[in-house]
Amino acid sequence: MKILYLNGPNLNLLGQREPQVYGRATLAEIEARVRAQAKKRKVVVDFRQSNLEGQLVSWIQEAKGKWDVIVLNAAAYTHTSIALRDAIAAAGVPTIEIHLSNVHAREDFRHKSLIAPVCLGQILGFGAESYLLALEAAVNVNKS
Ligand code: DQA
Repeated sequence: MKILYLNGPNLNLLGQREPQVYGRATLAEIEARVRAQAKKRKVVVDFRQSNLEGQLVSWIQEAKGKWDVIVLNAAAYTHTSIALRDAIAAAGVPTIEIHLSNVHAREDFRHKSLIAPVCLGQILGFGAESYLLALEAAVNVNKS
């Protein structure tokens, strides 16, 4: 099984960015935890980050036929991007939306996800653990 992790804008700053909201782990540390878990589950993963909406759109488009599941932390684009939503719908690759923080406990503008309706489901509010829970969900859903 192959899982593509995509990370959106400002997630390259994890560790130093609002640690009270997002925790102290860097994206590289989260990636290392994901890779260790993936190895145990015999899953192939790739882990990418971009601050650019168009780059994320291209990666989602290119995932078609190549990746079984996309795990997507679209960051702020979650709340704004029709382009990402359309790319997920067009690619047809089952996509799990994740967030470190519980967006529903935060500002109103974070309560709306434009990508949620075209995703398999959402995992949010568990910090770095959200990334690992998504891996388990992807593996288990793939089996059933
Ligand atoms: C986030 C939540 C978003 O609202 C925010 O814009 C982010 C990170 C999260 O993982 O909690 O950049 O996706």
